[in-house]
Amino acid sequence: MTTVGIDKIGFYTPHYVLSLSMLAAHRGVNPDKFLIGLGQHRMSVPAPDEDVVTMAANAAERLLRDVDCDSIDTLLFATESGIDQSKSAGIYVHGLLNLPQRCRVVELKQACYSATQALQMACAMVQRRPDKNVLIIAADIARYGLCSSGEPSQGGGAVAMLISAQPRLLAIEPHYGLYTNDIMDFWRPNYRREALVEGKYSAKMYLQALKQSWQHYKENSGHGFNDFSGFLYHAPVPRLVEKAHKELARYESLPLDDQQVAAQTADGLRYGREIGNTYTASLYIGLISLLENSADDLSHQRIGLYSYGSGCVAEYFSGVIQAGYQQYLDKSYHQQLIEQRQALSIEDYEKFFTSQLPRDGSAFQLPQYNTGNYRLAGIENHKRLYERNDSSAADASRPVPITTPALSRAISPGKIILSGEHAVVYGKPAIALAVNRYAETTVVADSENDKVDFDLLDLHYHKSLTKQALKDLKSSIKRKYHKFLNQECTIQDVIKQPVQLVQFATAHLMAHLQQPPQGIKVSTQSNIPVGCGMGSSAAVSLSVLKAINEYYGHHVDSDMYLKMSHEIENLQHGNSSGIDLNVSLYGGCVYVNGGDIEQRPIPRVPMFLVNTGKPRSSTGESVSHVRQYFAEDAIWNEFAATTNALDQLLASDDVDKIQSIIRHNHRLLCRIEVVPQKVQQFIQDLEQHGAAAKICGAGSVVGDNAGMVLVITDQLDHIKPVCRHYHYTVEPVIAEHQGLRVA
Ligand code: HMG
Repeated sequence: MTTVGIDKIGFYTPHYVLSLSMLAAHRGVNPDKFLIGLGQHRMSVPAPDEDVVTMAANAAERLLRDVDCDSIDTLLFATESGIDQSKSAGIYVHGLLNLPQRCRVVELKQACYSATQALQMACAMVQRRPDKNVLIIAADIARYGLCSSGEPSQGGGAVAMLISAQPRLLAIEPHYGLYTNDIMDFWRPNYRREALVEGKYSAKMYLQALKQSWQHYKENSGHGFNDFSGFLYHAPVPRLVEKAHKELARYESLPLDDQQVAAQTADGLRYGREIGNTYTASLYIGLISLLENSADDLSHQRIGLYSYGSGCVAEYFSGVIQAGYQQYLDKSYHQQLIEQRQALSIEDYEKFFTSQLPRDGSAFQLPQYNTGNYRLAGIENHKRLYERNDSSAADASRPVPITTPALSRAISPGKIILSGEHAVVYGKPAIALAVNRYAETTVVADSENDKVDFDLLDLHYHKSLTKQALKDLKSSIKRKYHKFLNQECTIQDVIKQPVQLVQFATAHLMAHLQQPPQGIKVSTQSNIPVGCGMGSSAAVSLSVLKAINEYYGHHVDSDMYLKMSHEIENLQHGNSSGIDLNVSLYGGCVYVNGGDIEQRPIPRVPMFLVNTGKPRSSTGESVSHVRQYFAEDAIWNEFAATTNALDQLLASDDVDKIQSIIRHNHRLLCRIEVVPQKVQQFIQDLEQHGAAAKICGAGSVVGDNAGMVLVITDQLDHIKPVCRHYHYTVEPVIAEHQGLRVA
């Protein structure tokens, strides 16, 4: 039997993007629901003159750059966003790309599943004619409706893949597992532009169909869970993929904890988290994401693929990654497509969403957005007119500027302290870990004025300042800081509102940078809880500094970032230990001892975070209280010994020993009075359920809340009822290996 499979693969996604934190803020939803509960960070939004044909033509044109198109005798177009009841969308693409006329073209439909049907058909065709190639295109725009529960799971994009004999990327194995069941979980009657969906039921059926098709696959192939090195799933929202992977492992009696699940699915989800659901294309964007983002060489590895289309049809199948596959990927182009998207305001997103083609066939011309190489120009005599984009023909009436503005975006992670909070102030060691919460800053040109526009999306803060007003603000903050140093005011009097930190960082840099007269827009958002000891201000300052530097093409090294951000952190905390900055800057796990900073392995024991609420005392106030009563105490040597004992055990998976150190650490923190009574009671209850826990920030010297509590347990189910009793949320700690970077 000839080996057949995917020889080349690439995707296109639209040029506009909507941040889900921003969407959440506008919909009155906690952003964590979208970012964590659904695992979705952003979604691509097609311009009004883009549709499945233009996206498909963009993806396929690039894929076919160095392919002999005469070898393609079949084009299979998978979509559920069809533009015509009779004519295949593939024929328009065939025409736009000038493909040979000796070619069959057909459109396939079965919700998100049909690209997999196309792949299986193409493999069978190439088996019969190994000298021919089949071009598959999967393109979709996921639409549920403004303010609907499906809204955060929208997105859009197209995948093109070339199926051939002796493929260079992925050989498709002949085994498969199938499942079909006539259900109404998601459907789109002909008269509707948006899908109808029973969201929770659809997720339940997705998981049920996974087990059914997997069971069938196992019976057919004889392969088991351990025969796979990677797992890919159709990804309507990333969180459902994580649930599916966990469910599959549990089904095989090989349970995985949340960290293992996150680690095993992360590479395949990286692009999807940014793009959103792309229905037919989603599983294959996952494949590209895995191949392009895995740090390991995946040559010769078997991966499992789960394809699900509502209604429903599911298929489990497998493939083997080919040696040397890395040479045939288009990684930098794909990353650029994602990174260089233009952020939409909610207003523009809603305008895009509601813009409609006439439904009665009347003639219509669309404004030109110049995104990608192809566009839908309009409708005439009931016919869609497509054309190649020509930048000189841009329509001045378009709702958002289409010339790609200079844009830069930087992200920086938050952190938790595993051991040594407070002790670090007395020169004792501490261990901190970067975690998957981020501050993100985007800087774009604002050609309409010469001001600096600040948008703090989480705080609903929007203000424009002239460059002079920004300079004045900086001087006034500096004056107040000097007063604080002379003990004429408290540290809380220096930075009055969190936004001033962003404004100071901007002013600080702009004083040193060469800039054109044009204004800029600085947008910052963060899902790091403020004032909970997770290093939110450090991450915000670093992301602002990096995004502005990058925007002006000014590249500075890490030491310089540390120096600049330290100055800014001092304004917030009086005298910052610098630990938050180091972790946010470098990522991973760090051991800090005086001025020395050393990287440590990421701990392997299962860790969770419980949010007990924002402390009533600030970090500065807690530190002052401790200094007043305990500065001279020998307790700091005990803290140091505890931190060093933990340091010795970090790389081990000895949960019992690590728990006993954490329990001791908690008792020390109680002795310096930074753990409120209520949180002490909570930790005592957790300990009775076999867990160990401690605060992982400055704690609080007043009130009931202590910010984040770190819990070490391998029995999450035992502590969940305790957290529920206290109305606290619990979530796994996912370590972030990287620090400040361009996003
Ligand atoms: P929903 O009602 O918005 O979400 O629907 P929810 O209330 O269930 O919340 C989602 C999760 O967020 C929950 O976690 C909450 O606890 C959590 P879970 O219980 O599931 O583990 N949450 C939070 N987490 C952290 N912090 C917070 C917070 N608040 C809540 N503050 C749904 C979500 C995906 C159903 C919805 O978006 C939807 O209907 N989407 C469209 C349908 C869909 O994607 N279905 C998936 C399976 S069907 C499929 O894959 C086929 C499809 O691709 C189409 C095709 O085949 O063509 C859709």
